[in-house]
Amino acid sequence: MRPPSLKSSFQVNTLLEIANQFGTPTYVYDERIIRQQCQLLKKHLTGIHTRLLYAMKANSHPAILEIIRSEGFGIDAVSPGELYLAQKVGFSPEEILYTANNITDEEMHLTQKAGVLLNVGELSRLERFGQSYPGGDICIRLNPQIGSGHHEHVITAGKTTKFGIPVHEISKVLDIANRYHVRITGIHQHIGSGISSMKVLGEAIGVLLKHAADFPDLQFVNIGGGFNIPYHPDDTPIDFENFHTSIVSLLKDTNEKANQKLEYWFEPGRFLVAESGALLVRSNTIKEANGRTFAGTDSGMNQLIRPALYQAYHEIFNVSNAQASPSSYEIVGNICESGDIFAKNRSVQQIREGDILAIFDAGAYGIAMASIYNLRPFPAEVLIREDRSITCIRTRQSPEDLIHTMFASYFDDAS
Ligand SMILES: Cc1ncc(COP(=O)(O)O)c(C=O)c1O
Repeated sequence: MRPPSLKSSFQVNTLLEIANQFGTPTYVYDERIIRQQCQLLKKHLTGIHTRLLYAMKANSHPAILEIIRSEGFGIDAVSPGELYLAQKVGFSPEEILYTANNITDEEMHLTQKAGVLLNVGELSRLERFGQSYPGGDICIRLNPQIGSGHHEHVITAGKTTKFGIPVHEISKVLDIANRYHVRITGIHQHIGSGISSMKVLGEAIGVLLKHAADFPDLQFVNIGGGFNIPYHPDDTPIDFENFHTSIVSLLKDTNEKANQKLEYWFEPGRFLVAESGALLVRSNTIKEANGRTFAGTDSGMNQLIRPALYQAYHEIFNVSNAQASPSSYEIVGNICESGDIFAKNRSVQQIREGDILAIFDAGAYGIAMASIYNLRPFPAEVLIREDRSITCIRTRQSPEDLIHTMFASYFDDAS
């Protein structure tokens, strides 16, 4: 049985202190790790002209956005809410790319009013953009027909996906753009999330680059995000040597051979924030049934859906019984669904009722995908600053507050 391990730079005492002070469930983020990941990526992109965006869908807490902004990143936004928050945090319109996904005309007008570049992945949206904004600038999301990702739900290129305009339809893109004198200043791809093969990513980039010359006004090629992190102890981190030879060199050579000055954009989400976050939960029920030991917790799939949705692995560590010998547990939540499982048959230090468990690598697509299913409010969020001071960045909502916020208009009308 694999022994559990303490991940990232988290200290047992700090996690226990946070659980005691702020209660559970609580998301904890470590600013140092976010900065470390931002700097790691920047370091491996030297030698090419790049622009880095953060895909804020991974975790849109303003405190996290501010940290990433101070590292020089712009924003990949995908909804009016994300756009509003990015602007509120101080990102300027030029620093934001709005990637459309079946957007309405109102959303399109909102981006243009804000002065933000729109990235469209449908011919009909390009047509409507041309009709409303002839002569305008736009970015086109292409589908290089090669996808990759940690689960089929997050593969966003290839033959079956809704995303992007297939590369063999570029002539139709150019027809529409010419008709309305629209300038295609960028082409974009995002082939999936949790890509571990740089070879596959390199192949997809190769397809995109082959078509760069088709666009006379092109200024940048956006490679997308998708870099994975090692969730499982057997997973290997991104091999940046390989990244350099298969991707950075390819981008450099393309510019040199074609004597062009294309800027290369990247828009990672997970890579920057996943490892910075842990979800602290309390085990409140230990139950033996049918030869299994269930450790029931005070959180659930509504607060971290990745295990239920993608069968994703998250390392789990018993911070209040760190030295105990491990045994096997089904670690489950408090939601009324059989799929509400954080980990099956998982080796964790002996769990007692009342113990605090840390679920690691929960900084990306954790709170961002959380819901209030079963009317359980969102967890609290806490940030460990670079100087190791601890700040609560989201206070725990009570069930009463949640219900009053949700149904205020109904109760106001009824009273
Ligand atoms: C268009 C786009 N860009 C970037 C990302 C970020 O992906 P990741 O968090 O895997 O880096 C996503 C995620 O779904 C996306 O849809």
